Amino acid sequence: MTDDLTVTTTTASYPVVVEAGALASLPVRLEALGLRGNLWLICDGAVESLYAAPLAECLRAAGFTVHTYRVPPGDASKNPAQLGELHTWMIAGGVERRDAVLALGGGVVGDLAGFAAATILRGIAVVQMPTTLLSMVDAAVGGKTGINHPLGKNLIGAFHQPRLVLADTDTLASLPPHALREGWSEVIKHGVIRDAGLFAELEQLADSYGWSESAPGGLWDATDSARTTALSNIIRRAVAVKVEVVSLDEFERGERITLNYGHTIGHAVEQLSHYGLLHGEAVAVGMHAEARIAQLMGMCDDNLVDRQAALLHAYGLNTALPTYDLDAILALTMRDKKVQAKKIRWVLPTAIGTVQVRDDVPDELLRRALRIVDCRL
Ligand SMILES: NC(=O)c1ccc[n+]([C@@H]2O[C@H](COP(=O)([O-])OP(=O)(O)OC[C@H]3O[C@@H](n4cnc5c(N)ncnc54)[C@H](O)[C@@H]3O)[C@@H](O)[C@H]2O)c1
Repeated sequence: MTDDLTVTTTTASYPVVVEAGALASLPVRLEALGLRGNLWLICDGAVESLYAAPLAECLRAAGFTVHTYRVPPGDASKNPAQLGELHTWMIAGGVERRDAVLALGGGVVGDLAGFAAATILRGIAVVQMPTTLLSMVDAAVGGKTGINHPLGKNLIGAFHQPRLVLADTDTLASLPPHALREGWSEVIKHGVIRDAGLFAELEQLADSYGWSESAPGGLWDATDSARTTALSNIIRRAVAVKVEVVSLDEFERGERITLNYGHTIGHAVEQLSHYGLLHGEAVAVGMHAEARIAQLMGMCDDNLVDRQAALLHAYGLNTALPTYDLDAILALTMRDKKVQAKKIRWVLPTAIGTVQVRDDVPDELLRRALRIVDCRL
């Protein structure tokens, strides 16, 4: 067993467990947290029979009352009607303030179930149990919950910190290869923004188990326990970066902006691909472009750009900018949520493990950076 990580903010303190087999410890952990009310387990179709049904069994055997609700997989479930259905299900079932919502699944379930917990009876406890690599290293930690609005993603929501995050890395074994692969971009991002040691470890692992066509998920092999242990440890180290950052800045007033490295260009590219590119794939392209911006600004050398690109490639990620209209990319970057007083606040690396926020990137330099990443790789 590894030691738990702990998020400590001004409003909450909670354990974050990242471990193979962690789900089995849920009953004991709920008891320890004093969560003895009814449990409202929310999942999607992809994880229902694999993990939700056995988990509910194990909780019932320990004496808990468990209700289960399955939402359709995919971002479209983060909508007001679905949220209303979850509210109705809980109210009709007699939800009480001492109850807890269990969010089991990827970031979609985490955001939706988290927001349902934040809003029912003015807020009840939620336990986040992420089952995708992306949601383990990002969405499940930090308390951001919400749904989409027809005018934009994630526009309706609340900060609602979980009482516990339980990331069972064994669940990654069933993730489709492309979903696993995209998660590595956020892991690598955490190394670049804050943990040079994590970045170096990722390089070592890539040397040992490098990505190949025959293992397109990017290194995971459930039959090789030494490998899964090494990867679980590295995922835990990446989660620790998120834990540190949200502990420093719960409401995104400072440090938390650094988590957006790669996301200004990444979001633009994701939108221009009409979501044909997965989020993590778009972030990999964004990280490469933004590292190039930093290099052209004189903030870092070529070696950083090359090392980061090599690592992204080693984990099966592409860094070439798809051939989109530069004007369209520029226009979309101006709609980035980090824009303040009409200036984009760029998160740019100065070395592996360190970033700076800059709002003085000239348009011409940005175009030059995008032209370079368009044709080089
Ligand atoms: N709250 C935050 O801080 C935060 C941060 C980043 C992203 N997000 C949100 O997270 C969402 C994306 O999350 P995601 O990438 O996890 O996508 P997702 O939740 O859509 O999951 C991806 C796919 O994998 C399936 N799946 C999940 N776990 C599985 C498993 N173990 N085995 C097999 N299939 C499995 C799901 O059914 C889905 O089809 C977006 O809505 C995004 O806005 C939130």
